Amino acid sequence: MDATQGRRHTADAGGQGTADADAEQFWERHYGTRRAWDAHVNPLLAETAAPLCPGVALDLGCGPGGDTIWLAQQGWHVTAVDISTTAVERVRDRARDLGIAGRVVTEQHDLASSFPAGQFDLVSAQYFHTPFAFPRGRVLRTAAHALRPDGLLLIVDHGSTAPWSWNQDPDIHYPTPTEIAAELDLDPEHWSVLRAEMPGRQATGPAGETATVIDNVLLVQRRDRSMAA
Ligand SMILES: C[S@@+](CC[C@H](N)C(=O)[O-])C[C@H]1O[C@@H](n2cnc3c(N)ncnc32)[C@H](O)[C@@H]1O
Repeated sequence: MDATQGRRHTADAGGQGTADADAEQFWERHYGTRRAWDAHVNPLLAETAAPLCPGVALDLGCGPGGDTIWLAQQGWHVTAVDISTTAVERVRDRARDLGIAGRVVTEQHDLASSFPAGQFDLVSAQYFHTPFAFPRGRVLRTAAHALRPDGLLLIVDHGSTAPWSWNQDPDIHYPTPTEIAAELDLDPEHWSVLRAEMPGRQATGPAGETATVIDNVLLVQRRDRSMAA
């Protein structure tokens, strides 16, 4: 993957990248037509990161940026990445409005073709789903390789369909944490699975309705110091 092709959104940087036009348009429409921009940290990320000493984090598919903003507010330096230019621009603007712009860099990437440069203490992939063909296993494996020694990769996926979800495909299969770990295909000599669980939680839909939904959670730690770049 080419780390140079993303479009960086800071006060002082610009550039052009390539992206799958359909996927980019889809997610641009998704965020461009979104009036409410309410974004909160995922509790599973907060639970994982709260005990850690703040370092350098990467938020893959940051979307509205609730996770990025929360991490930056805890003292982390965060690179927030999304295929949607609207999403990353809004995260950048929100960070600026909150006075934490110095700890947030936003970059537009189609992660199928480019990946941000750097080494990270924490990589977070929260509900990193897309309806388009996407080499997710390869991207997440690249993320695992971008970890510093002792760094953590937290993947939180949907494990069930909420009644208000835009995707009600009855045949949808949500990969289990074990299946996600198998897709990553990481050498157990160098990466450890710290958590592979499917907890339920009470979720609230856009109209205030509630339902129990499942999250598929995988937490991986890089162990091998000799492999770090
Ligand atoms: C289901 S949303 C989750 C957003 C956010 N992480 C959250 O928890 O609310 C999936 C996110 O992945 C982004 N995404 C989809 N395909 C992508 C790609 N090829 N490269 C980078 N980001 C992508 C979307 O724009 C979207 O923001």
